[in-house]
Amino acid sequence: MKAIQVIPGDGTPRLVWAEVPDPSPGPREVLLEIHATSVNRADLAQAAGHYPPPPGAPTILGLDAAGIVVAVGPQVEGWQVGDRACALLAGGGYAEQVAVDHRLLMPIPPGWSFLEAACLPEVYLTAFVNIFVEAEFQPGQAVLVHGGASGVGTAAIQLVRHAGGRVLVTAGKPAKVALCRRLGAHRAVDYTQEDFVQAALEFTDGVGVHIVLDMVGAPYLERNLQALAPTGRLVFIATLGGSVAELDIRRLMARRQRLIGSVLRSRSVEEKAAIIQGFQEQFGAALERGAIRPVMDRVFPIQEAQAAHEHMREFRNLGKIVLQVRP
Ligand SMILES: NC(=O)c1ccc[n+]([C@@H]2O[C@H](COP(=O)([O-])OP(=O)(O)OC[C@H]3O[C@@H](n4cnc5c(N)ncnc54)[C@H](OP(=O)(O)O)[C@@H]3O)[C@@H](O)[C@H]2O)c1
Repeated sequence: MKAIQVIPGDGTPRLVWAEVPDPSPGPREVLLEIHATSVNRADLAQAAGHYPPPPGAPTILGLDAAGIVVAVGPQVEGWQVGDRACALLAGGGYAEQVAVDHRLLMPIPPGWSFLEAACLPEVYLTAFVNIFVEAEFQPGQAVLVHGGASGVGTAAIQLVRHAGGRVLVTAGKPAKVALCRRLGAHRAVDYTQEDFVQAALEFTDGVGVHIVLDMVGAPYLERNLQALAPTGRLVFIATLGGSVAELDIRRLMARRQRLIGSVLRSRSVEEKAAIIQGFQEQFGAALERGAIRPVMDRVFPIQEAQAAHEHMREFRNLGKIVLQVRP
């Protein structure tokens, strides 16, 4: 089969569509013929050599895949050849085929294209596990989502809205702010123009938000804690601005706030399967109805993965960037 190969160089790595060995599914795996995959920011880090795949995962880039099941192992339950599915991967999405444990598949909702379905697993499951499982969201609570127009951010806005929460987001450009508002964010702050702490306190009558979903890290730590209510939860999913910061532990204790660090990719298949099950139970019907639907920014042919990465590297995407593998 063909897959994207990373050719390291002095500067930006080259991404080349080239022949590689076919994957062979294990007893609990299906072979998925991939029609589309999507770009996640982790792919850029992996291509640059900073985010190696967990042990046992394919070394090929790609955390999402949508396509058709073309073979099933003897211990696979609930899936048949010909089924349309999307998969949460630890790697292997930038390819014509991938072997994936059947517990990491989700059905493609009726009426969704492969392109849309490729946008579902990684960012929606990230938003879900961090807001709903780790931070224990309850209806009516207020959530501050940084990077509101990112893949994860657009998913988070939709899930929190759908679950009866109140969403405040930050974004760095007027078009991104406008997208967040269209998606249902109650308040969208352009962080280049406005202080998000003040906005969060106004938004919550001075109390602070119950949950912060953060991808900026160190430079936001102090302000995130100011924006967070007593007993609130601050979840770190990335450190785009830096990872080392100073913390007033005594104030954290007094306000009984919790800091949570979280990654999805390196969790066990069992943990990921439980996350998928919880997500489907809570949001499956809304996905089927089309009440929750991914925001697609641009579609690139897989052969142009490098241009797609460039688009994301420059923070130009509003929502998800998709890579089309089969026309
Ligand atoms: N821990 C996990 O399990 C997990 C899983 C999935 C994703 N992630 C992480 O979550 C982040 C979002 O992923 P994605 O694929 O959705 O990426 P993405 O679409 O590229 O979004 C990244 C966002 O970060 C925002 N941003 C960058 N620097 C910022 C800064 N200094 N201040 C405020 N906002 C800033 C950008 O928004 P503006 O242009 O508006 O600034 C951009 O929308 C990535 O860092 C990714 O690695 C973590």
